[in-house]
Amino acid sequence: MDTASKDPFPWKEPTKPVARGAFIVVEGLDRAGKTTQVQKLCNNLYADGHNVKAIRFPDRTSPIGKMIDGYLQRKTEMDDHAIHLLFSANRWEKAAWIKEQISKGYTIVCDRYYYSGMVYSAAKHNPALSLEWARTPDVGLPRPDRVVFLNLDAEEAERRGGYGQEKYEKREMQERVRELFLGLMSKGEEESKDMMLFDAGDSAENVSTAIWAEISKVVGSVEAGSWRDLGSVGHWPEKR
Ligand SMILES: Nc1ncnc2c1ncn2[C@@H]1O[C@H](COP(=O)(O)OP(=O)(O)OP(=O)(O)O)[C@@H](O)[C@H]1O
Ligand SMILES: [Mg+2]
Repeated sequence: MDTASKDPFPWKEPTKPVARGAFIVVEGLDRAGKTTQVQKLCNNLYADGHNVKAIRFPDRTSPIGKMIDGYLQRKTEMDDHAIHLLFSANRWEKAAWIKEQISKGYTIVCDRYYYSGMVYSAAKHNPALSLEWARTPDVGLPRPDRVVFLNLDAEEAERRGGYGQEKYEKREMQERVRELFLGLMSKGEEESKDMMLFDAGDSAENVSTAIWAEISKVVGSVEAGSWRDLGSVGHWPEKR
């Protein structure tokens, strides 16, 4: 079967030289509208002449992804650290591919990334699993050019069809996750520079318009070569 014909965004020769593609991440609580907005952003980018690929984490198709899937569906139990490292490994197994696509000129729009990785694990309140510990295995991954954070309170998120049976789909967990996400915005490290907050309680159309107003500028600058080079996630400074 010709899999290329299934690509919703087949390569189009750019009209202007492209220094590289951008790496855009969409983050937020369960039901915040991430998948909806990734789709809309990709459609807008492609219609505007950019080459684009949508990806998501966890990628449940790889062998590691299948182990994560079993855990999320409560079919298997795992130590908090062990499952955390599998989530990170699931991103690492895609890291070289992400860099390659970006260097070819594709903008990658990514549904969840290491931000979710660290805040969901830290939200478990395991005293031996701090936010700092949780972030460490992701140091060195491609750093996003921008992170769209869809801000929604847990109650509102729950009203959107309710939570399912998966591991983290509980109100208290989601509230802690949201606090940790918001904490990253004000922490003063690279995440505070990369994150942009959007009110995800507005209509999907309005959220999409607000995201487009900001992200189209970022992608334009990246493609024109006036943004920084694609970075790597750096260490947080040691706490004294
Ligand atoms: N701005 C919005 N206002 C109201 N409902 C929305 C909005 N955006 C998305 N929805 C609806 O909320 C539900 C969750 O949206 P979506 O699947 O995009 O969220 P998600 O963040 O990807 O969720 P998950 O974490 O479960 O993958 C869907 O039924 C979707 O149609
Ligand atoms: Mg989704």
